[in-house]
Amino acid sequence: MAKRRRATSAAAEPGALTRARQGAVLVVHGPNLNLLGVREPEVYGRTTLDDIDRQLKAMGEELGLKVETFQSNSEGAIVDRIQAARGKSDILLINPGAYTHTSVAIRDAILGVGIPAIELHLSNVYKREPFRHHSTIADVAIGRIMGFGAESYYLALRAARTFLDAATKGSN
Ligand code: DQA
Repeated sequence: MAKRRRATSAAAEPGALTRARQGAVLVVHGPNLNLLGVREPEVYGRTTLDDIDRQLKAMGEELGLKVETFQSNSEGAIVDRIQAARGKSDILLINPGAYTHTSVAIRDAILGVGIPAIELHLSNVYKREPFRHHSTIADVAIGRIMGFGAESYYLALRAARTFLDAATKGSN
């Protein structure tokens, strides 16, 4: 793919700061995702979290997006990280892991900071146990991507680029 030097080429134009800032992406991985590659590989695949983070950052460069990643096994730490992104990140990609199905606190944090969020999962949760069918953030997310293994993250990053482009044009 051709390199998109969005932030650099926008630098000389009016509104450059706004446009440059529109490329900040925070990726949040919830509990047990640090075990990717080892954990139930028949469900989650063999790609490690480090591999995914590295690939997201490389893709981010191509797409003109600054990608920051964060993983925690603790609900409070995830809430703190989302709060810290207020005014700094333009879009959130979040795989809340098991907290997807239980966490009102993560839902409230997303609403509280007002950052648009894409929910994603490696597995298709609807092919799994019924308790995984409920998500506390499904209705506050822009959209949801699941079932493609590590590729779910890369699809979500592309969707983030498209969403931010549309937001710049005011068409969201
Ligand atoms: C998951 C699905 C959740 O149900 C599970 O608890 C996870 C991973 C996924 O990416 O498929 O930890 O979010």
